[in-house]
Amino acid sequence: MLAFEGEDALEIPARALFLGAEPHATLKAWPMIVGWQPFKPRADAWDKAGLTRLEKLTDEKWPLVMILPSKSRDETLAWFAMARDRLEPGGRILAAMPNTTGAARFEKELSRAAGNIFSIQKHKCRAFHALLDHADESLLNEWRVLGEPRKISGFWVEAGIFSSDHIDPGSQLLADHLPAHLHGNVADLGAGWGFLSDAVLNRCPKIVRLDLFEADARALECARRNLASHPQEIGFHWQDVTTGLPNTYDAIVMNPPFHTGQATDVDLGRAFLRVAFASLKRGGKLLLVANRQLPYEAVLETSGMAWRKIAEDKVYKILSAEKR
Ligand SMILES: C[S@@+](CC[C@H](N)C(=O)[O-])C[C@H]1O[C@@H](n2cnc3c(N)ncnc32)[C@H](O)[C@@H]1O
Repeated sequence: MLAFEGEDALEIPARALFLGAEPHATLKAWPMIVGWQPFKPRADAWDKAGLTRLEKLTDEKWPLVMILPSKSRDETLAWFAMARDRLEPGGRILAAMPNTTGAARFEKELSRAAGNIFSIQKHKCRAFHALLDHADESLLNEWRVLGEPRKISGFWVEAGIFSSDHIDPGSQLLADHLPAHLHGNVADLGAGWGFLSDAVLNRCPKIVRLDLFEADARALECARRNLASHPQEIGFHWQDVTTGLPNTYDAIVMNPPFHTGQATDVDLGRAFLRVAFASLKRGGKLLLVANRQLPYEAVLETSGMAWRKIAEDKVYKILSAEKR
C-alpha cells in the first residue's frame, strides 16, 4: 500500500476501517485499524492476530476505508458503496484484488463513480484508491441496492453469499431424496441461507431440534429469516465447522463446501465429513450431496461408516451413511 508514490501517494491516517479484513503482520503497528469480516475462519484469524473487529458495521466515519472484496460482482460494488457511506469528508477508499477476480474491471467501475483513481499493479494484483467526495450519487445508489437482502424462489438471500441467485442444484437433489424418518436432534453443516434446513424441516416431522452451522454471518442472517415460520426449535451458529461441533446429533445433512476463496479445496470437504462423523451419535445418519468426482467415499470408509449412494445425476451424487 505504501508503494503509492509521487502524485499517487496515499497518506496513511491513524484510523482506518477494513472491510473483508484479513490479518497481516504490518497491521499490528497501525494505531487504530478496525476490521469487519463476515466469514468466521477469517474473523477468527483476525482476532487471533490481536486486532480489533466489529461484529456489526456501524455508521462511524473514517478517513480511510480499505476493502478486500471477493469475486462476486454485486458484493464488490455493494462494498464500494458501503465504504463510501463510512468515509469522512476527504476520506479515501483503498481496494486490493487479485487480477483473476476481475481487479481491472472493478477498478474501472470505481473510477466511474469517483472520477480520478490511483492504481498500482504488483504480484498479479491491483490496488487502487480514490476520493469519493464528488462521486456519482446515482451510481452509488445502484450499488447500495445490490447489497440489500432480496428474494429468490421465496427465500431471502444477499449478494456474496453462496448460491445468492439460484437454488443450488446439488442441494435440490438432496432435498428431493431426503428420507422422511430423520428424527430427534439434527444438524445442517455449512447451512448457507437455509435451503436444505427448510427442506429437512418440511419433510421430516419427527425432528425436535435443528442446528444450523454456517461460516458466513450474512447467510446465517438470511437463514434466520427464511426459517422463521417453522415451529421446531432451531439453533443458528456462526461457526467454522472444521473446528468441531459442541453437540452430538441423531442425523446430519450437508452440502459441504469444497472451495477456499477461488481455489478448489477438497480437504475442506473432507474436514466436514470427519467433523460430521465425530458429531453423530451411534446409529446416527449422515446425508450429503457432492459433485460426483469428489472422493468422499474414502473418508466414509476410513471412518468405518456403513454407506451407500442413494442417487446421482450427471453432476452430483447423494451419499447416505450410518455411524456403527
Ligand atoms: C455448498 S454451500 C451449501 C449451502 C447450503 N447448505 C445450501 O444447500 O444452499 C457450503 C456452505 O458452507 C459454508 N462454509 C464454507 N466454509 C465453512 C466453514 N469452514 N464452516 C462453516 N461453513 C462453511 C459456505 O459459506 C456455504 O454457505
